[in-house]
Amino acid sequence: MLQRRVFLRVLQHFYLGPNKSFPFGTFAAQKAGLRNKSTGPPASTERTFIAVKPDGVQRGLVGQIIQRFERRGFKLVGLKMLQVSKDLLSQHYCELTAKPFYPEVQAYMTSGPVIAMVWEGDNIVQTSRCMVGHTNPAQAQSGTIRGDFSLHVSRNVVHASDSLKGAQREIQLWFKDKDLLDWDCCYRTWTCQS
Ligand code: TYD
Repeated sequence: MLQRRVFLRVLQHFYLGPNKSFPFGTFAAQKAGLRNKSTGPPASTERTFIAVKPDGVQRGLVGQIIQRFERRGFKLVGLKMLQVSKDLLSQHYCELTAKPFYPEVQAYMTSGPVIAMVWEGDNIVQTSRCMVGHTNPAQAQSGTIRGDFSLHVSRNVVHASDSLKGAQREIQLWFKDKDLLDWDCCYRTWTCQS
């Protein structure tokens, strides 16, 4: 909180001079990328957890996958690259650890770097699942990420949370609050009604 105030003071100083403060909601605040607290995002705005799996990173698909979410109008609020531990993976896939295919999933998911992201936007949980496509790429429609970039369920390139509750759990598991950024995207009014 204190850090946020200091940050605001520094921004104020550079944008407006030492004796003025930001009138939130004005161009100056928007220019600084600060969220307008009085209007804020509408209630339907959600956050979800998206990850490019090790095959997607190895195959150089990170940029194309990020581009799909940007192009759709979603906003990136957190991103990091990491090598996933067995412990983190078992928490992430807590409903799958007893499945016969889990040892394969574990070997694959811990084999190389993963790009972990949090994306924000209206109804993003449902929409991102549609964009990602069926779990088994053989059944994924063309135009979906899995339908365009993958062939087999064991190498399906990308993860997207499957429910709002799941998204909240996964975001908390993979990210600290301080690593997620609240910022106003300048084209928001061109992708949403309010
Ligand atoms: P799941 O959560 O059911 O699917 P999704 O990723 O679409 O939410 O499964 C998690 C991952 O486990 C899936 O992306 C790939 C792997 N998996 C297999 O390797 N074999 C399988 O038979 C299934 C169902 C999943």
